[in-house]
Amino acid sequence: MRVTAEQGDITTTAVDAVVNAANSSLLGGGGVDGAIHTAAGPRLLEACRELRRSVVPDGLPVGAAVATPGFDLPAAWVVHTVGPNRHAGEQDPALLASCFARSLDVAADAGARSVAFPAVGAGVYGWDADDVARAAVGAVRSWDRTHPGTVDEVRFVLFSDRVLTAFESALAGA
Ligand code: APR
Repeated sequence: MRVTAEQGDITTTAVDAVVNAANSSLLGGGGVDGAIHTAAGPRLLEACRELRRSVVPDGLPVGAAVATPGFDLPAAWVVHTVGPNRHAGEQDPALLASCFARSLDVAADAGARSVAFPAVGAGVYGWDADDVARAAVGAVRSWDRTHPGTVDEVRFVLFSDRVLTAFESALAGA
């Protein structure tokens, strides 16, 4: 699996699946969640409402993931995951790692060969970019070892220089 980090806007990234840093409601928010909903169009919110009715009536748990189509996005799929909210006392990095691993499970089940991740948890939910980067890189590499040849490419698509640097360091093993 090729694992890379770049600066960019995940809503314009041409991959099979983009991962959304959602909240448990799945009904939208700010940050990357808001940007993905805006770019995907109103059918995304409809699909999320349907998931709430049928699959996760109590909301999506922290560390879990679920897929919808990408609608107007270049990506065929959006994989929604919910990071731990540090401001709400959710401070276990294993929950962050779970976001990345479960998202790959769901993307692979949908048939995705290329997946783009934002820095789940590094915005509104208050995680330090280095902690997110370490959890993300560790989880993705470990997932690849247990699912060899399943996903060809993971791209970490980061908004800011500071977060990009954190991911570059984690990828370099620093
Ligand atoms: N492309 C890539 N990264 C982006 C984009 C984008 N278009 N927009 C924002 N980001 C970056 C942020 O700069 C941050 O580094 O995504 C990272 C994650 O930040 P948030 O979107 O705030 O996600 P998170 O910290 O997981 O908080 C989730 O925010 O709006 C809500 O509904 C969402 O309540 C949930 C919470």
